[in-house]
Amino acid sequence: MKRIGLLTSGGDAPGMNAAIRAVVRSAIYFGMEVYGIERGYAGLIDDQVVKMEMRSVSNIVQTGGTRLRTARCMDMLTVEGQKKALDTVEKYGIDGLVVIGGDGSFRGAKVLSEYGVPTIGIPGTIDNDLEYTDYTLGFDTAVNTCLDIINKLRDTMTSHERVSVVEVMGRHCGDIALYSGIASGAEIIIVPEVAFDMDEIVNRVNRSRASGKHSNIIVIAEGVMGADVFAKQLQAYTTYAVRPTCIGHVQRGGSPSMMDRMLAAQFGNKAVRLLNEGIGNRVVGIRNNQIIDMDIIEAVSMKKTFNYELYETLQMISM
Ligand code: F6P
Repeated sequence: MKRIGLLTSGGDAPGMNAAIRAVVRSAIYFGMEVYGIERGYAGLIDDQVVKMEMRSVSNIVQTGGTRLRTARCMDMLTVEGQKKALDTVEKYGIDGLVVIGGDGSFRGAKVLSEYGVPTIGIPGTIDNDLEYTDYTLGFDTAVNTCLDIINKLRDTMTSHERVSVVEVMGRHCGDIALYSGIASGAEIIIVPEVAFDMDEIVNRVNRSRASGKHSNIIVIAEGVMGADVFAKQLQAYTTYAVRPTCIGHVQRGGSPSMMDRMLAAQFGNKAVRLLNEGIGNRVVGIRNNQIIDMDIIEAVSMKKTFNYELYETLQMISM
């Protein structure tokens, strides 16, 4: 392969820039040309393409967001949009494409693969909602951002003897709530995968107070309900003051953690190695600490499973 395309798509994630850098530099190492497609599939459809050089990716390994910008592109779901995307691929003589994004972005990549464009997916989403990989790019940084905020909330909640309801992202996947809950010592997490019982929550709060605790943290995933709505419901059952906080898009920005930079370097490099060997239609990931690749159709058909053992761990150690 002589010429590859690269795009970021869907919600951005810390580490996307580090992955862009790894793809561009690896491709140049193998003597390939790289075309960056701006604004994800929208840019592929509208022909927003820029040639990327060694220095186009200088000084971005440590930055959040995505240098190529991103979009959620509905047109890519239509045959008309897909045909326009293919026209751009043809116009620039792109032999292979790297797509950095989540589930929806991989579905677009799968379509292009089926039209004969060798495509490699790099998992870039804070949600950690892809089953085939233990971690997605951006998840670690997002959880660390949540931890920083929850630590601060714990300070003020303890001073005022309050209950904090903290909303984190995750429409269908509770991993951000699960990991930030365990790592912050939250007493309760509420995730889309597990039905919650208000009586049990109130009991946990009361038990912890009876044992001498002065505050409570409840982490709730946005897919269950908003922190403000849940806080109002809970307030009807307790005399402790309940306060909602929505972390929101703060958790999608910021400088990537060491873990996300390492994943970005390895995912980006692996993606280009595969294309250089003439292999397409794969996704890269990490499993049991090993960088792996897998068929893209198989990867997108896998259903994300929830780690109930970790959920129980939280129940046992946070009280
Ligand atoms: O896909 C990542 C994600 O951060 C979700 O957790 C969240 O629900 C969504 O994006 C928010 O997206 P938007 O950019 O449309 O606000």
